[in-house]
Amino acid sequence: MGLFSRTKKEAGEVDFSNLPRHIAIIMDGNGRWAKKRALPRNAGHAQGAETFRTIATYCKDIGIDYLTVYAFSTENWKRPNDEVSAIMGLLEKYLYEAIDRMERDKVKMKFFGDPAPLPPKLKALIERTSDISTHYDGCQVNVCLNYGGRDEILRAAKSCAEKLAKGDETAFSEEAFSKNLWSAGIPDPDLLIRPGGEKRMSNFLLWQAAYTELYYTDTLWPDFSKNDMNKAIAWYQQRDRRFGGV
Ligand code: FPP
Repeated sequence: MGLFSRTKKEAGEVDFSNLPRHIAIIMDGNGRWAKKRALPRNAGHAQGAETFRTIATYCKDIGIDYLTVYAFSTENWKRPNDEVSAIMGLLEKYLYEAIDRMERDKVKMKFFGDPAPLPPKLKALIERTSDISTHYDGCQVNVCLNYGGRDEILRAAKSCAEKLAKGDETAFSEEAFSKNLWSAGIPDPDLLIRPGGEKRMSNFLLWQAAYTELYYTDTLWPDFSKNDMNKAIAWYQQRDRRFGGV
């Protein structure tokens, strides 16, 4: 076997020594997964939440530094009340259980989005999870909740404008702007995965994904497995990232 074949991975094979630092996921397809099984949509969300836990644990185990998932958008309030309540209930359940496991797993959790309109119990769990997370520096899972990319950019612009009005001439550089986003201090995502067959950004990480590699798959989120994750990472590792250069 020559040197090249030992170092260069075959297509589809993950190089675990050179993983993306930050992976973002739009967890799409829960409703269709349930419909295919003649189940209520909420059953799809429940299975999607299980998949979230499996995939987050996998990311931690293989050494991904940051995982950012889109759990609830600023537009998702338009869904029927019972579906919104079911998603909030699942988030409460999973955060409650995550708190129990954090000591063991050393996973850090952060939340992107405005918590103000969330149910009080969920808000309290978010605060508790965020507080406990300050003690850990393992894999960081960012959960986007009542999150919208445009909302995030507008808030950052307002905050920069206020700084400028107070005489801070440096308030509007790209670097200074990024510090006003929910993702302040976190490297931009290297790879964004969208299961569920749609090819759009849906208001997710609009600023941060400027140079992110976009991976789409028809697999519905509740069916998304560790093997699907490996396929996405292997695909990413075959990309030639130029960031606008040659
Ligand atoms: C999109 O699928 C999914 C959502 C809007 C909700 C995502 C929520 C979870 C996976 C549960 C809670 C999450 C955590 C982090 C514990 P869709 O309903 O739009 O599916 P469809 O396009 O097939 O209708």
